[in-house]
Amino acid sequence: MVVTGFYPPSVGQQEAGARFLCRPAPIQSLGAPWALLRIESPVPVAILRLRDNDMSITIDEKLDFIFGRRSIRVYAPGEVSEAMLTKLLKAAMAAPSAMTKDPWRFIVVRDTSTLSQMAAALPGGKMLSTAALALLVCGDLEAAFERQLSFLLQDCSASIENLLLCAHVLGLGACWVGVHPDETSVRQIRQLCSLPTAVIPVAVISLGFPGEQPESRTRYNPDYVHFGKW
Ligand SMILES: Cc1cc2nc3c(=O)[nH]c(=O)nc-3n(C[C@H](O)[C@H](O)[C@H](O)COP(=O)(O)O)c2cc1C
Repeated sequence: MVVTGFYPPSVGQQEAGARFLCRPAPIQSLGAPWALLRIESPVPVAILRLRDNDMSITIDEKLDFIFGRRSIRVYAPGEVSEAMLTKLLKAAMAAPSAMTKDPWRFIVVRDTSTLSQMAAALPGGKMLSTAALALLVCGDLEAAFERQLSFLLQDCSASIENLLLCAHVLGLGACWVGVHPDETSVRQIRQLCSLPTAVIPVAVISLGFPGEQPESRTRYNPDYVHFGKW
């Protein structure tokens, strides 16, 4: 697919069979001046790598990438490849971790029956029944810094945010489905996935190609910010 003819360094639209919206986002691992473009169309979503010698991405455009990550609960058909899965897991395991203990553990779920059982078990997880894939994010209490639940939860949460941002880079839609601390959810997920006693399920990340496109946004509120002291 040739896109150089209509690639602008900022947001642009082009008609070529389908309407797309090109959002340049820098991917450092590709090395400058490579850029990754998310091509958004009803289905499927394609990822293109473009070389542009004159590419300048402003700070606001970089931040807009973060603001563009939204919870996606409606999925279009399409398989999440093994290559994408590896990238998601690499991003998850690049998160900050207290004393670099990396207590996070992941269970990859593609089986539709297990996805449906998760959807039934989790009050906020109905979308899992239509997801292409789910990642159960757990923490191993034995591995966590000072074996403290708080560190386990903080580390796993950081890894989840990395996962969500990586899904956004890849043109996937994702949603954080809460498990911990709801006792019923923890018990059911523990049973469903045969977790050892020391392994605590934190959340399920529902993944698939996006079937909805919520607006980019921040929920910035200056009232939530204090300077120097409360
Ligand atoms: C700890 C936690 C638990 C969440 N649990 C659910 C859930 O069970 N189901 C769901 O649809 N979304 C869940 N979410 C996603 C939030 O609803 C969502 O992040 C929030 O509404 C902000 O929207 P945004 O992600 O599009 O910015 C959860 C998010 C967090 C951080």
